[in-house]
Amino acid sequence: MREKTRLAMRIRHSASQIGERLLKCMSGMSTMVDILSLSEHVDQRVTLRGWLYGKRSGGKVAFLLVRDGTGLCQCVVEAETADAFAHANELSQESSLHITGTVRKDERAPGGYELLVAEVRPIQLAKDYPITRKAHGVDFLMNHRHLWFRTPRQSAILRIRHRLIRAMREFFDERGFTLIDTPLLQPGAAEGAGTLFPVNFFDEEVYLAQTGQLYLETAAMALGKVYCFGPTFRAEKSKTRRHLAEFWMIEPEIAFAELPDLTDLAEAFITHIVQSALTHCRTDLESAGRDTAPLERIAPPFPRITYTEAVDLLHSDEVHERLMSELERDRTRLKKLQDELARTEQEREAARKGWQQDKLDQQILALRDKIRELDTDLRNRPQHIEDARAFEWGRDLGGDEETILSRHFEKPVIITEYPKDVKAFYMKPKPDDPRVVLNLDVIAPEGYGEIVGGSQREDDVDALLARMRAEGMDPAPYEWYLDLRRYGSVPHGGFGLGVERTVAWICGLRHIRETIPFPRMMGRMIP
Ligand code: 4AD
Ligand code: MG
Repeated sequence: MREKTRLAMRIRHSASQIGERLLKCMSGMSTMVDILSLSEHVDQRVTLRGWLYGKRSGGKVAFLLVRDGTGLCQCVVEAETADAFAHANELSQESSLHITGTVRKDERAPGGYELLVAEVRPIQLAKDYPITRKAHGVDFLMNHRHLWFRTPRQSAILRIRHRLIRAMREFFDERGFTLIDTPLLQPGAAEGAGTLFPVNFFDEEVYLAQTGQLYLETAAMALGKVYCFGPTFRAEKSKTRRHLAEFWMIEPEIAFAELPDLTDLAEAFITHIVQSALTHCRTDLESAGRDTAPLERIAPPFPRITYTEAVDLLHSDEVHERLMSELERDRTRLKKLQDELARTEQEREAARKGWQQDKLDQQILALRDKIRELDTDLRNRPQHIEDARAFEWGRDLGGDEETILSRHFEKPVIITEYPKDVKAFYMKPKPDDPRVVLNLDVIAPEGYGEIVGGSQREDDVDALLARMRAEGMDPAPYEWYLDLRRYGSVPHGGFGLGVERTVAWICGLRHIRETIPFPRMMGRMIP
């Protein structure tokens, strides 16, 4: 009986192999491959499926630039292959197609390989694709976000995001953490009532989660080491380059952990994800235009300072002098950019060929963007420098102070022990100096600012209740949260890392809007 089954299986297997071969014959003996794997098929006949990214024709030959989600491939169509040549000429930007030909190694081609084409089969001809080779402003691109991420640079950023998320999960999975999915609909605030999004929940007002932390704390008492990963929501009523209304956060929480355990964990975690990007995303980081040298320096130990030391640094002559000399340097840079713009505009006047004009228009738009940004920055900077000098102990470190501090260090800097009054109700005060709490913020270098916020938690039920009352919070919806301080309370803590701010830093992006497929922020809901 068993013999028979085995025989039947073998026959079925051979039949499927014959079928596969037959299919290959019918498509002229070509194998369907991804652009990424072209190097394994040199001198072989292959078929790519993808979309037309660009096209150049030179009389007797057409160059099609095809993308398939794994890369870009230059496909050379000669006039002798009449049928393919005719199709090549009718193809418009973003038309979908099958394209068959022989793979050749060519140093000059993007990716190092090209296809000498035998056959072109259009699937659908795209009409008037809105994102052309011409210059587009960022608002136009954001309105066409659903199409914009087809461009190689945007795809590269999304692939890096994917790899970073994978590395984040990997880090905790390999260290014995259990993933806990925390609810997105919650009865109250955890990170301040000012940024809550209300939701009608069967006629009761509830809120979109600002964090999974409070639920995660209860899970740490059950499972020891846990993490959650999901979208979180903050009604940030200002448009900045660091804030989204919907962002993704990964949060570990550990029982029996104190502040030094948390700073060590954050340091190892950040190092791991940066190393992972460097190992797996070289090409994509290059497409994103990232200089990787500053990332190569990210290794333990990270500098650790207290909030009080950070304030002293803001007041110091050393920082003041550096800020003044950067101001001078950037004023010269602005002047240079303005000269370059004037030159490019003159060149544009003189340009006759369409493709030259398009290219120069793009350069002009990019230069104008840079100049506008630098000009605004330079107008505000003298005030920021003054503010830093006059910064008063007790205030929260804002975006401007974070930028100044993060430019001061080559690695992420861990700042601990902030004033209690500017931090969340659940943070534990320092026993011998209760004006400050046992918290940590990690500030990314190169001006990127805070990427991690966390703390050791208040583990005494009476102290927590007193703090909630002092903040005007009603303890009723938090009874379950107070329970974990009633039944076997232990020191514990954790932190949250914002995915998009981390992607912005690692890709070297000015603005957070390009780090997520569909950003949600004030004034932006579509697409
Ligand atoms: O510092 P936050 O508010 O900390 C918490 O939510 C804690 N409950 C985390 C914890 O201890 N489990 O936020 C943590 C991180 C910030 O450092 C930042 O990277 C990111 O989340 N973040 C934002 N990212 C984009 N847009 C916003 N509006 C953000 N607000 C916070
Ligand atoms: Mg924070």
